[in-house]
Amino acid sequence: MKHLSLLVLALTLCATTAFPQVYLNPNAPIEERVEDALGRMTLQEKIAIIHAQSKFSSPGVARLGIPGLWCTDGPHGIRAEVKWDEWDQAGWTNDSCMAFPTLTCLAATWNPEMALLYGRNIAEEALYRGKNVLLGPGVNIYRTPLNGRNFEYMGEDPYLSSAMVVPYVQGVQQNGVAACVKHFALNDQEHGRHVVNVTLTDRALYEIYLPAFRAAVQEGQAWSIMGAYNRIWGQYACHNHRLLIDILRGEWGFDGAVISDWGGVSDTDEAIHNGMDLEFGSWTDGLTEGRSNSYDAYYLAMPYLEKIQRGEVGTEELDDKVRNVLRLIFRTSMNPNRGFGSLCSEAHAQAARTIAAEGIVLLKNDAVGKKNARPILPITGDQSPTTILVVGENAIKQMTVGGGSSSLKAKYEISPLQGIRERAAQEGMEVRYVRGYVGDIGGEYNGVTTGQDLRDERTAEELTAEAVQAAKEADMVLYIGGLNKADHQDAEGCDRLQYELPYGQDQLISALAKANPNTAVIMLSGNAFAMPWLKEVPAIIQAWYNGSETGHALADVLFGDVNPSGHLPFTIMPALEDYPAHQYGDIAYPGVDNEEEYKEDLFVGYRYADLYGRKKALRYTADGRSFVINPPKHKPLFAFGHGLSYTTFALGKAAIDNRTVSLTIRNTGAREGQQVVQLYVAPRKASVVRPVKELKAFRKVRLQAGEEQTVQFELTDDMFRYFDAGKHEWLTDRGTYDIYIGTASDNTPLKITYTVQ
Ligand code: BGC
Repeated sequence: MKHLSLLVLALTLCATTAFPQVYLNPNAPIEERVEDALGRMTLQEKIAIIHAQSKFSSPGVARLGIPGLWCTDGPHGIRAEVKWDEWDQAGWTNDSCMAFPTLTCLAATWNPEMALLYGRNIAEEALYRGKNVLLGPGVNIYRTPLNGRNFEYMGEDPYLSSAMVVPYVQGVQQNGVAACVKHFALNDQEHGRHVVNVTLTDRALYEIYLPAFRAAVQEGQAWSIMGAYNRIWGQYACHNHRLLIDILRGEWGFDGAVISDWGGVSDTDEAIHNGMDLEFGSWTDGLTEGRSNSYDAYYLAMPYLEKIQRGEVGTEELDDKVRNVLRLIFRTSMNPNRGFGSLCSEAHAQAARTIAAEGIVLLKNDAVGKKNARPILPITGDQSPTTILVVGENAIKQMTVGGGSSSLKAKYEISPLQGIRERAAQEGMEVRYVRGYVGDIGGEYNGVTTGQDLRDERTAEELTAEAVQAAKEADMVLYIGGLNKADHQDAEGCDRLQYELPYGQDQLISALAKANPNTAVIMLSGNAFAMPWLKEVPAIIQAWYNGSETGHALADVLFGDVNPSGHLPFTIMPALEDYPAHQYGDIAYPGVDNEEEYKEDLFVGYRYADLYGRKKALRYTADGRSFVINPPKHKPLFAFGHGLSYTTFALGKAAIDNRTVSLTIRNTGAREGQQVVQLYVAPRKASVVRPVKELKAFRKVRLQAGEEQTVQFELTDDMFRYFDAGKHEWLTDRGTYDIYIGTASDNTPLKITYTVQ
């Protein structure tokens, strides 16, 4: 006993000697360290630590040896270094990164293990590049296919994005790098993002737009969150009392730091009182240079200090902000378990390729010609072509550059054409390429150059004629088009202007399909688009923007080395008018005089598409406003959750024992594959208006040819509840619920019932 006490004393002395100050002792409880550091800081040091000192860094406390924070975009790779006070690249030669697939692709894997892999790998890159805060992931909900930044987010469904964001955040933070979940909240469009004022019901807020943020905070334990640019209920998101104080801190118990979007703070008083902790990017409007003393002029800099000195405001709020920032520093830049990371490693390339291939969605795959012919994909196997014609600008266009703040300086990027060429060579196939159309000609973006000169002076007629002729001469055509991250084509700061594909692609695809029926359409985009040629082509693949390993991953799927298993994270409707946000005129999108009302309420994505076939409109009032939801005139072209495979699966009967739902699933085809089993809950009767059904669980299952597995789901209380705005509580109606199980939101053949007592 005596020996033990002596040992404890010795160890304590040792620790005290090694770390004379508590805040420097990594073994001391974090709150003690925070209070100790706070107690040693001067007023000026406290003010300094809550705002930026350069475009992407904030200071620590130099006198106390507390390092600052380096932030980085996010969310698909580690952004190149920019100059201290300019957006231009700094011109370093050691700051290239691995570009990972965009988050729509990650969501399309429907595989939380992929999100964990993603988080771990990207954080290793952040570590190697000396970054502490990764500005991502983004979980704004896919409300309209025009949103320029949908490619950075995880789709239309709150449950799917919650399930995917949690492991992403955990993977990042396991490395001592903070995730900064963005953009909190309701930044669901780029048009007017700095001014638009969003109004919606509390139910839509809690049931649709907040769940992924809540999951990131409460389950993922995110260390930071980024306030959005827009206004909500008339107040800017970066100092929105209800969002940041009542919900984030009050209801969710967030103990991390609220970081502003770059230039998102616009009022000192509100920023002081309404929960903003760390101000970035002010005075720059995101584009132009700051003034010489710009950082002192930040809303939370001198203006705040002067208010304190004049006695207009106390220091209680300031101390809380400093605590939140210190906590972030101790968790990241002073985290003793933080490793050194690695950059562009083999393992990162492999992770990027695996995630990309797993997120690619096979939308359609039919046979051409003879009765017993197999579907045209994969390319290899019987009926394989000898000459393949690749058509389309996206087959050669560098896509890691562009799109806004997520633009990257990738160490390399395998284009689709390159990937296809490499793989086809192994099969002895000949690959030819023609451009087909001219969209974006490459060049410079935000000081980042694509290094590509894609100018082509030929007319559209000449390009089409060349492509059609070449298509006639080939055994198979792979059309590779879509959007391209140029302005209005999936880019930050501006929305798309139309739902249709740009650059005359629709006509070109039809012409190619006519010239050669063996035409597969492969689309790179982060958004849905119209497909007037849908019936004219036998195969369609949605291949996102997949980063450095784009071409390899695409070839993996096309040639059947990877069996596709991606499923859509959003609904693809035939026309823009088929989306609920586009049925109420400008007030619902893009807003009138900067006012916007989410008039479709809860009926976003498949929640709306599921109303197809109803005779009458849904009419109800909520939060004192009347809602009229007219049923859609068309079914989706491809439903939420849809995705094909090169094998086939059969679901057995579902059974329920107490709260355990079981079913069998069998691979009935000839090759290994993965299927996503999706569980939706549908109330039979409800005391309030409710969506027809909602995704509440899913499982990705890998099966060998002929293999059968049992899948089980536990029904939990939260699967049945809805948010009662009046009571401000989650409630559950007693009674019968149908549980639908299937492999897409429009394909749920299994049904069981469950009664909530
Ligand atoms: C974007 C953020 C980004 C930040 C820093 C802003 O314009 O909205 O997503 O992290 O810039 O680049």
